[in-house]
Amino acid sequence: MRFNHTITILFLILFLGCDSKKNELEPEFTLDAPKYFGSFNQRIPEDNPITTKGFELGRMLFYEKKLSGDNSMSCASCHQQNKAFTDGKAFSAGIDGQNGEVSSMSLVNLLWSEKFTWNGKMETVEEQSTEPIRNPIEMHENFEHAIKELEDAGYSRLFQEAFNSDEITDDLIGKALAQFQRALVSSNSKYDQYLRGEYVPTQAERRGEKLFFTHPIPGQLRGGNCGDCHLGPLTSGAIDGFQGFHNNGLDTDENMDEGLMAVTGNPADKGRFKTPSLRNIALTAPYMHDGRFETLEEVIEHYDNGIHQSSTLDVLIIEGSNENQASGERPQLFLTKQEKQDILAFLHMLTDEDFINNSKFSNPFENEND
Ligand code: HEC
Ligand code: HEC
Repeated sequence: MRFNHTITILFLILFLGCDSKKNELEPEFTLDAPKYFGSFNQRIPEDNPITTKGFELGRMLFYEKKLSGDNSMSCASCHQQNKAFTDGKAFSAGIDGQNGEVSSMSLVNLLWSEKFTWNGKMETVEEQSTEPIRNPIEMHENFEHAIKELEDAGYSRLFQEAFNSDEITDDLIGKALAQFQRALVSSNSKYDQYLRGEYVPTQAERRGEKLFFTHPIPGQLRGGNCGDCHLGPLTSGAIDGFQGFHNNGLDTDENMDEGLMAVTGNPADKGRFKTPSLRNIALTAPYMHDGRFETLEEVIEHYDNGIHQSSTLDVLIIEGSNENQASGERPQLFLTKQEKQDILAFLHMLTDEDFINNSKFSNPFENEND
């Protein structure tokens, strides 16, 4: 009995000890994500769980212009909530007015993404969150200077609360920003409502969904082939630890951007880019890594009848046609006008008004700056 009692007390001390330590970072942030997105816990790093304080700090830093060299720009300059966290431009200029070489990306459902940036050069959201601050053609700031400014603005207390740290470091800035961005979950589009049985789609939306996810078999099954790469309800290229990079026929070998090859050095990866999520796609024009298409109609036209052949063109495009094509012939989908409109209707189903209006994700300084 006595022995047991001692053990119980020991346990209590241990348990309470751990618990009170944990409590300093509580309350844990609850992420609302539908089951059909798949599990995500494995992609939250053990050393950077999402907490309410960390999320709030990350949100402030995301909108904090002090993180740029001349205090004129924040992450939100190129990632605007009302545009699903893109900026509406083919190329975005940094603080020195110099343009980047690729288009800004929507920040959405990053928890289910395996690699980051168009060519996948970043392994984690943390890494990709400090890069733009340093980058001379983006926010062009030096961390010592930024940290000094954050200290002067009273941020030390917030880092203390979020990370138990007396010090502001670049590592913790990246962690807080990552917490905020991982919480940017979009899952209340009409398509989600339909998947949950809360919305009855129009005929066009129904046909569009089917075409989007069907790989065509000439003479038997009509399809748009999109879901071969834009996988499942996330409509992104990531699934269970795998990140899809594809060459979707934008260019010939001669004028093609390097894409994944810049990271792997493998010529077979030339022109292959991260397959982006199409969530909120109606809000994120212009399209593709170089913003070459202004409208979704142009994008659909590209896949239907605008594919450029090259040595690394994806086999899913070469083998995805509604008609039997001779080998070596330029791949075409041969969609009807109606089918293209149906796919467009489905793409519009992916717009999530709650996501772009969610006040949890908005600028916390709204009434002070800007
Ligand atoms: C000058 C415009 C600009 C600013 C400022 C900017 N970004 Fe970006 N962001 C981009 C561009 C362009 C890309 C694509 C980069 C690439 O492919 O190399 C991108 C990509 C990303 C991605 C990858 C998304 C994905 O799905 O792979 C993340 C995450 C990101 N930015 C976060 C941030 C954060 C956090 C900040 C602020 C610290 C920030 N960005 C500031 C333009 C910007
Ligand atoms: C072989 C794989 C593949 C297929 C099939 C495919 N896509 Fe894509 N899609 C991609 C890749 C990769 C990108 C990014 C390419 C780039 O920017 O260089 C992309 C980009 C896009 C974009 C622009 C996204 C943005 O953020 O700018 C849209 C819209 C799009 N695809 C829609 C579709 C539709 C609609 C279909 C079916 C008709 C389709 N895709 C079929 C791989 C594919």
